[in-house]
Amino acid sequence: MTSAPVHILCVVGARPNFMKIAPIMAAALASRTVKAKLVHTGQHYDEAMNDSFFRDLGIPRPDVNLEVGSASHAVQTAEIMKSFEPILLREKPDAVLVVGDVNSTIACALVAAKMGVKVVHVEAGLRSFDRTMPEEINRVLTDQISDRLYLTERIAFDNLAREGIGPDKAVFVGNVMIDTLMANVKKAAPARQTLEKHGAGAEFSADFGLVTLHRPANVDDPEVLERLLRALAEISKDVPLVFPVHPRTAHHIKTNGFDSVIDSPRILRLPPLGYLDLLGLMAKAKLVLTDSGGIQEETTALGVPCITLRENTERPITLTEGTNTLVGRDPAAILRAVEDIRTTGGKAGRVPELWDGKAAQRIVADLASWLGG
Ligand code: UD1
Repeated sequence: MTSAPVHILCVVGARPNFMKIAPIMAAALASRTVKAKLVHTGQHYDEAMNDSFFRDLGIPRPDVNLEVGSASHAVQTAEIMKSFEPILLREKPDAVLVVGDVNSTIACALVAAKMGVKVVHVEAGLRSFDRTMPEEINRVLTDQISDRLYLTERIAFDNLAREGIGPDKAVFVGNVMIDTLMANVKKAAPARQTLEKHGAGAEFSADFGLVTLHRPANVDDPEVLERLLRALAEISKDVPLVFPVHPRTAHHIKTNGFDSVIDSPRILRLPPLGYLDLLGLMAKAKLVLTDSGGIQEETTALGVPCITLRENTERPITLTEGTNTLVGRDPAAILRAVEDIRTTGGKAGRVPELWDGKAAQRIVADLASWLGG
């Protein structure tokens, strides 16, 4: 006799969540053991930040959209909680599954925990040890109230143990974001095509670098932002740079009048790109400069050198095994790191353990036995 499927409510809210939920929804759909419904909080909502990812990654239309939108951290988190509670009362799932570290992650985890519904956290146990980052607060708190924690790298066991979370709740499964990368790398838009579509000049006919910047610590303070933009302008004299600009960053460049700092035919500023366009550029880039967590992992999986413009990373395996170098925000150090990659080709790196495209299948199999057993 086969047992009845278990019901989980999966939550997404912001751009990096979409790449993580896509393979989980697909693996659940392919299984007879786990039935998944999707709740979108609406934290991100634009075509470029939201809709294009659902299309590119074939994520099913959310069963529910809470349409919360942008606001301060407190208001956004509170609005998500208020709107999610009645959904949970109505759906009565066996568990709520949250991914990553955005405000939607902690908001929905907290509602579920208070209602006695089991919480599952995918990408648990990562720590930057920097509590000024909103994501670090979200990670620590979500892990504390989670009943099942899925890990992308083994060091997360140690981080959790230090916070009193034992290995009985945690399972090392690999990296769902890399599941998505592997499933889509062949479908990625050719870099040439994306560059042409956006009017790149002859400067971009050979090597180019890719830049992404959106962390509040890098873009909200005008002094820091200006210094970083000046460093990019300097780098672009040697390597032309493609720079898809996050709405938060675009806002700060505009309001501080920094457009002229990076106004050059060797810096191609683009709107936020869809997944397949960005993946195509990343795969062909000579180097990537970023403050994104996901891109540190994706460049490691692709073997592309990555310079991380942060003082810390919650994903240390990208440094110890991958192609990532933590450089910080000092312009001289950033320029040195670029020069090093241009002369040596950068770190060779290897793909970390279990980053093999099957993490979501492991999660679904474990959920079925944990909740169903
Ligand atoms: C959020 C996440 C961050 C993640 C990032 C990826 C938190 C605390 N932060 O930061 O971890 O790396 O998403 O993008 O959850 N906006 C738009 N269109 C949208 C969404 C936002 O224009 O679809 C603009 C709004 O002006 C908004 C600003 O971007 O105020 C920032 O959005 P928000 O969701 O508050 O934070 P992110 O910086 O995107």
